This record gives sequence, structure tokens and C-alpha cells, in this order.
Amino acid sequence: MTSKEIRKKFLDYFSAKGHTIVPSSSLIPDDPSVLLTTAGMQQFKPYYTDPLRAEKDFGSRSTASVQKSFRTSDIDEVGDASHLTFFEMLGNFSFGGYFKKEAIGYAREFITKTLGLEISFVTVFEGLASIGVPEDTESQKIWKALDPAIRIERQGVEDVFWGPTGSSGPCGPTTEIYCRNANNEDIEVWNIVFNEFFFPGSREELLGNLVAKSPKKLESLKHPGVDTGMGLERLAMIAQKTRTIFETDLFASFIEKLTDDPPLPISHQRVIIDHLRGSVFLLADGVRPSNKEAGYVLRRLLRRAFVYEKIYTLSPDIFESILLAVIEQYGSFYGELREAKNSVINEYWAERERFSKTLERGVRELTALQEPISPAKAFRLYETYGIPFEIIKELGVIHTLNLTREDFDKEFRKHQEKSRAGAEKKFGGHGLLFNTGELKAADKKELAVVTRLHTATHLLHAALRKVLGNEVQQMGSDITAERTRFDFSFGRKVTREELDRVEGLVNKVVKDDYKVDYDTMKYDEAIKSGALHFFKEKYPDSVKVYTIIHPETGEVFSREFCGGPHVKHTGEIGTFVVIKEEASSSGVRRIRAVVK
Ligand code: SER
Repeated sequence: MTSKEIRKKFLDYFSAKGHTIVPSSSLIPDDPSVLLTTAGMQQFKPYYTDPLRAEKDFGSRSTASVQKSFRTSDIDEVGDASHLTFFEMLGNFSFGGYFKKEAIGYAREFITKTLGLEISFVTVFEGLASIGVPEDTESQKIWKALDPAIRIERQGVEDVFWGPTGSSGPCGPTTEIYCRNANNEDIEVWNIVFNEFFFPGSREELLGNLVAKSPKKLESLKHPGVDTGMGLERLAMIAQKTRTIFETDLFASFIEKLTDDPPLPISHQRVIIDHLRGSVFLLADGVRPSNKEAGYVLRRLLRRAFVYEKIYTLSPDIFESILLAVIEQYGSFYGELREAKNSVINEYWAERERFSKTLERGVRELTALQEPISPAKAFRLYETYGIPFEIIKELGVIHTLNLTREDFDKEFRKHQEKSRAGAEKKFGGHGLLFNTGELKAADKKELAVVTRLHTATHLLHAALRKVLGNEVQQMGSDITAERTRFDFSFGRKVTREELDRVEGLVNKVVKDDYKVDYDTMKYDEAIKSGALHFFKEKYPDSVKVYTIIHPETGEVFSREFCGGPHVKHTGEIGTFVVIKEEASSSGVRRIRAVVK
């Protein structure tokens, strides 16, 4: 059974049971409290407290999906038989519709009948009085009624109590299905969560609450729901009876590209494949390598792969051929991969180029180490060369044996606190050299960057209208030396392909070095000239209008009410890159972009 067939059987099965099939959401979640999408339920979070909205949006209280998911928590585990960063999660969901009996019935039927696999055992929640959640005897009864011989294991809150995801949300006991793999080990394949409760804090806070003197009881959800998740790769490993996920049809053709000469350790082959595959998906969803948040996750994946490329002196085309194979293999199910093919490949090479010089120096320094490295020194290497922790650890060999991620992270936090304190001082009211409300700069150097970003923001605004139509209106903007953040009215998510076109248009204007000019005009006259203006603002009678105009043809790319400052020629802007597109509020989208 191919993994393509498994996806199809899953969606067909749940569609036949009245579920609306919903496409995967982006790996960049709308929920700002979560870095990346880690589970299928994330895009459905609001529906657990508002089932009527589910009926309105999906025509049903039940949905099913195959969700692109990414777990940074497993990054250090990658290399063994079953851990991954990126994976696909098959899931079915009920928002105040069916509950335990149907959920367990569907799962059992799908595993044993549709796929013809055997269940080794299942788990259920043993209960925890301190938070007011009883043992899940109902699930036990349901399992027994379906299969009197089934083995049921009772487990605690750490293992079989899910959620909340993000800063608060639905949560509840789970029942998990375990199946035997080709190594005769039982592995968890399906996690079936009964969202019966709501907790007004994160999962860490929930767990912390358990040891508190007077723990908070969980609130009951008005409409209990179901959230299930099953990793496609693990399921394929069971269905295809392979000993590792990397031998399934999801990976076999990628691994093949690495098995020739020179021989790489198997764990490193797996890291490379996992990291390149994950990078393709992150890039296609608009993540760009950086030193922050999702961008940093991507950077770590790519740079670790580059280090292996270097130390095993692999030919530079191999990785590109793997990226292309990933796009080819997954592109029929995830069309965004095909659409983003060029930007994926370009970004890949750009990051490789950025890293190559520092990698050289960093590797030299690491391989020359004579004594154990301190966390502070390791952090300095990271800061100077952008070499991620896991690579420092690996290249340092015996000198990094005692270096732990905890100590490194501590160093990282110390540094972050320092720079935050610095930033607060800078922005503490008097420290700002320049602050128009929209533009903020602490010194001359920052002013130069925000000026470039400011002109780029005008170009972005105009390009968005050209690509998406005049529905796009500026709703707000905020520019710092780090980035521009632009809010605009638009009724849906902007696709990656549209973002690529917007980015392309802006960069074309940069390349053609348009002239940036301004005129002072009467307000009415300015309106008549078609200049865009920010509808929330009140303008004086006489206003300044900035025009971005082709130096030879006189074509006007953008015309906007504005107080400046701007660059004189768009060529000064440099490369414009959209980092993220997300919802800001209802009907309003937000784009973050940088110039390089
Ligand atoms: N949210 C649960 C998980 O991720 C079930 O989908 O395992």
C-alpha cells in the first residue's frame, strides 16, 4: 500500500462518514502564540468553542484533513528509526458533533478493516482528581464492546492527556492506538483526543498546575469535541512493514541519492533527508532563513545539511536534486510546492552562499579546539558564524561532550535579555532619534534602513493592489530597523504564488531603479491625482505626495500621500523579501518584509 493510497483511503473513509475534507493549513499558523503548525487541530481551534461556526464554514460539525506539521521539539532525535521534524498528520475532528463511541469505532474500523492492520494495544486515561478529571472508563467500555480481547493500558496525564496548544485552548484525555512494526516493537500510531475541557493557559502551565498547592479545576467545554492525529510516516512504516520510516516509499527515493559514494553514516543520511524535506515545506510556506523564530528553525535545518555536505565533500548538485525530488513527489498533493519551486531553489542557494564563508572559518575554529568548550564560547561561535548548536556539538567532538543544549539555551536567553534591555533603553522615549509613529529609528544607521524599508513599503502597497486588486487598502504600517509590517484589507489568505508575484514586482522596480519624487499639493488635487492615502488619517489642506516613477518611460508605479523620508532611487532599497503573511484581524492581512 503506497502512502498516496493511505492518504486517499483515509480521506475517502472519513468523507463517507460525513466529514468535510479540509486542505492542510500553512506551516505558519494564524495563532501568534505558536511558532509552527504542530498538529491538525490547530487550524480548527476556534471551532471547539463555537460549533455553529463549523456548520457555517464547513457545512458540518465534522472535518478531516492531512495536515503539514512540524515539531522542533524532535529536532535532536532525528537520525533514529522514527523521529522527524516535518511530518504529515492524518486527522478527523468533531466540533460538538460525534464523541467517544463513534471516534473509537471509526479509528478501529479504519485501522483493522480499511488498512487490514492489527492493533497491539490501546491506552486510556487513568484519571486525575486534582484537576477534576475522572478515569476514562467510558472509552474502556467502548473498546471492550468492540473487541473483548483487546489489551488496554491505563496511563497518566503526561502520556494521555492532550493540550492545550498555544497560550490556551481545549484539552482532554486521549486514547491511543499502538501497532507492531517490523522490528517487533509496538509504536503509537493514532492519538484520539476527547476535548472535554478548556484550560486558560498553556500545556506547561497545565502541567505546572498539577503540582500547585491548590490546582485550578478544568472548565468543561460546553460542546465536547474530538481531535485525532495519526502520523502518515509511522503509519506507512507499519502498513509497508519496513523497519524504519526512511525505508517507506515516502523517503526511499531521497535516501537513494545519498547512498553512493562516499558512504555516509545512516543517521546523517536521515538527518539530511529530514532537514531538506522540512526545508522545502517551510520555504514553500514563505519562511525565509533568519535568526529568529521560524526563520531560525529553517536556518538550522539548512545549515546542518550544509555542514554534512562539506565534511563528507558531497557534490553540490546532490542536495538540489533531493529538493527537486521532494517537490516532485509531494507536489501532486501539496500544489504550493510546485508553485514555489523556483523560490525554494533560489532561497536554498542563497542561504548556502551566505553560510559558506562563515562555515569555513567556524569549522576551522571548532576543529582546532584544544580543550572543552564553555557554553559562552559555544554561543559566541553561534553568534559570530551562525553555526547552530547541534553542529557545534558535532564538530567539537570530545571537546563538546559536556556541552548541553540547556546550557547553550541559557546563554542564548542571557543574550536575548541583554539585547532586549538594550532595545528598551533605546526605545524608552528619549532614545529615539526618529519616530513618526510609523517609522522608528534609534540612530542614523537605523534611520537609513527604515528609510529604505519605507520606500519598499510604498512599493509593496502598490504591488499588492496590482496583484490582488483594489480591494487592498492600507490599514496600518509599522517600520523598524528590523522589518516593515504592513496591514491591509483583504478577505483571504494571500497564496504563496501571489506573494512571489508581489515580491517579484517590487524587486523589478528596485532593479530598474525608479525615481522617487515628491510634490506638495492641495488635498483635493492630491486625491484627484489618484494618490493612495491611509483612510484612517486626517490630512491637512496641503499635503505631500510621493511618486515612484520610471526614469525613462515616466510610468508611475506608486503614488501616495506621505511625509517621508524616502530614498531617492529605488535601487538603494536592495532585495525585498516577504517573510510572513498572516491574518491580523477579520478581513485584514498582515505582511512582514525585510530588505537585504
Ligand atoms: N492533537 C493531537 C496530536 O497532535 C491529536 O491530533 O497528537
